[in-house]
Amino acid sequence: MGPLEQEQQVTDTVGILGGTGGLGKGLAARWVRAGTPVILGSRSPERAANAAQEVAGWLEGEDHAELRGEGNAGAAAADLVVASVPFDGLAEGLEPLTAALAGKIVVSVVNPLGFDQRGAHPLPVAEGSAAEAVEALLPGARVTAAFHSVSSVALRQLGQPMDDDVPVVGDDEEAVARTVALADRIDGVRAFPAGPLRLAAPLEALTPVLITINQRHRCHVGVRFSRLEC
Ligand SMILES: NC(=O)c1ccc[n+]([C@@H]2O[C@H](COP(=O)([O-])OP(=O)(O)OC[C@H]3O[C@@H](n4cnc5c(N)ncnc54)[C@H](OP(=O)(O)O)[C@@H]3O)[C@@H](O)[C@H]2O)c1
Repeated sequence: MGPLEQEQQVTDTVGILGGTGGLGKGLAARWVRAGTPVILGSRSPERAANAAQEVAGWLEGEDHAELRGEGNAGAAAADLVVASVPFDGLAEGLEPLTAALAGKIVVSVVNPLGFDQRGAHPLPVAEGSAAEAVEALLPGARVTAAFHSVSSVALRQLGQPMDDDVPVVGDDEEAVARTVALADRIDGVRAFPAGPLRLAAPLEALTPVLITINQRHRCHVGVRFSRLEC
């Protein structure tokens, strides 16, 4: 990535669909304090405005980039868009935005999860993964997938840097590079390209294991890959 693209990356606005949830608010807090403007999206502009106010409250006294809340269509107008709705809300959340998101980089963070008496488990997805379901719902969008293992609770603990690797998958090299650069803006995150979008399924399926570890050990684990710098 050249200096111009790096500069563009710094000022790219990020829109978060479903940004009123724990993950969206946590990512927003980390990005705006790193100087990246964020639009939190919601089905309800009022909920989005409240969420933006809440996150701004977490950052009171700190310098931060612009943060606002809007309807999901407003968030979809951003330079980069994060799809942060639950798996069972994908169609409802994305179908109204098909035209707006054509040609855009859309980062799926979605984990297809179920819970039963034995705990959390991955759900089968007809398209192969939630990320590929996002791609099927959004013709022309440049879909990447990332952040599956990043804890919203850890993101919210703003006094501590994150301690997470973020593998990024996708079939569009530039979209993957822009997603990696965006993830790297979070203090304590190391992001890297990890292959094509069809590898999203195992990344998504790791999350129920992390949830189970968290329940057993009362923690909020993340993931690190060893010996990457070889
Ligand atoms: N929580 C984590 O630690 C974590 C970590 C990694 C990945 N993820 C993934 O990130 C995504 C968001 O996680 P979250 O915990 O923030 O989720 P969440 O709170 O359950 O949902 C996020 C937002 O999605 C919107 N939404 C809910 N149902 C919807 C529907 N049927 N249609 C359209 N929008 C709907 C809601 O916003 P409005 O009602 O305001 O529209 C909600 O605030 C999920 O796919 C999850 O698997 C979560």
